[in-house]
Amino acid sequence: MKGIILAGGFGTRLLPMTKVTNKHLLPVYDRPMVYYPIGTLINAGIKNIMIITGNENAGSFMNLLGNGKEFGADFTYRLQSGAGGIADALNLCRDFADEEPVAVILGDNIFEDNFKKVAAKYGGRGAKIFLKKVSDPHRFGVATVKGEKISKIIEKPSNPETDLAVTGLYFYDKQVWKVIKNLKPSARGELEITDVNNWYVRQGQMKFEMVNGFWSDAGTVESLNRASDHIRTQKLKKIL
Ligand code: DAU
Repeated sequence: MKGIILAGGFGTRLLPMTKVTNKHLLPVYDRPMVYYPIGTLINAGIKNIMIITGNENAGSFMNLLGNGKEFGADFTYRLQSGAGGIADALNLCRDFADEEPVAVILGDNIFEDNFKKVAAKYGGRGAKIFLKKVSDPHRFGVATVKGEKISKIIEKPSNPETDLAVTGLYFYDKQVWKVIKNLKPSARGELEITDVNNWYVRQGQMKFEMVNGFWSDAGTVESLNRASDHIRTQKLKKIL
């Protein structure tokens, strides 16, 4: 499986910290934010990785991460102009994926779990997402689960039906490219990853696993600090 890290977008929720640098280069405790998703993919056994970033600060990413050798991996870069959404960023990776299944991770997501077994078990068919019980589901995509199956996902609902957040790690087969091609921008003008996921739900091709260990995004001042604090105090296993 190939890996994709989405580290574009404007990081507006972290202004003014993101005025002159990219959100994913900001520190989360003792290392740049983007090290965590890199570690999650590499620890899952995924070493061939494309990194999507914005036009500004692209050089800083390359200076920091290089070609991946230092990490025992292989990094390729592509630029997303503007911030057309997570699915818009993902769409830039079609040629890189070359019909292989992909593991996509959001550049501001911090996972403690190791996904090696689940990646090996995936089999490259349909999609798989990872859910976590949270106290603030309205900030995320929220899944409704019926038995073993997800029946729907709603992006940032004001009255969430459940407390199951859809975390920012997704496994997709090659159908994802056709799905993205047919997407329409949402009310906030973005191509939404939740619309991609709901397509797989409707086809009966979406599976899920629960995240057991710590998980947080780091895209708001609150969550960035919470993630840093957790890593400092709970000594989150050294990811990378
Ligand atoms: O963290 C998990 C959540 O991430 C999910 O539960 C939501 O369903 C999903 O929509 C997303 O929600 P956010 O509103 O938190 O996403 P955000 O706009 O902060 O983008 C997350 C990452 O995706 C960001 O760190 C970089 C990447 N991204 C985002 C946009 C909008 C891009 O690469 N390009 C983009 O245009």
